[in-house]
Amino acid sequence: MADSGILAFEPKVVGFLCNWCSYAGADKAGAAQIPYPPNVNIIRVACTGRVDPVFILKAFEMGADGVLILACHPGDCHYKEGNLRAFQRHRILLRLLRDLGVEEERVRFDYVSAGEGDKFVKVISETVEALRNLGPMNGDSSKIHALSDDSHGGFHGQHIA
Ligand code: FES
Repeated sequence: MADSGILAFEPKVVGFLCNWCSYAGADKAGAAQIPYPPNVNIIRVACTGRVDPVFILKAFEMGADGVLILACHPGDCHYKEGNLRAFQRHRILLRLLRDLGVEEERVRFDYVSAGEGDKFVKVISETVEALRNLGPMNGDSSKIHALSDDSHGGFHGQHIA
């Protein structure tokens, strides 16, 4: 059989997972041996309220095609409103990224509890499939860098919650 010479695009995804819920959900999926795409590099955080928008911009600068933020469900955050703040930041960041030519589907926010191994797999699978369809990240990396660059009045440190 002839080789087409074209490799299928496999997106690189960075996933910020709350330690108390989504990370445990990922563990549950793993323990149950539910298969899911291996495209996600998981970063465990104490709470999604800790995910500075600059972390997301840095992920894109470093070659990610998409970013996931997975939080405790509303009312379950161990730090009261960290998940809600993360959700608000996500909405604001989407508007900024859209102006830079970055599609909304590249940054997904969702809620996954410790018991939702199935939902974790569903979110990962949907995200990877959406990114496969979008293709490689095509945003303006110089503008993304400008946004994330602290020394030039970028996004860092702004109170947007
Ligand atoms: Fe899980 Fe805050 S402790 S999102």
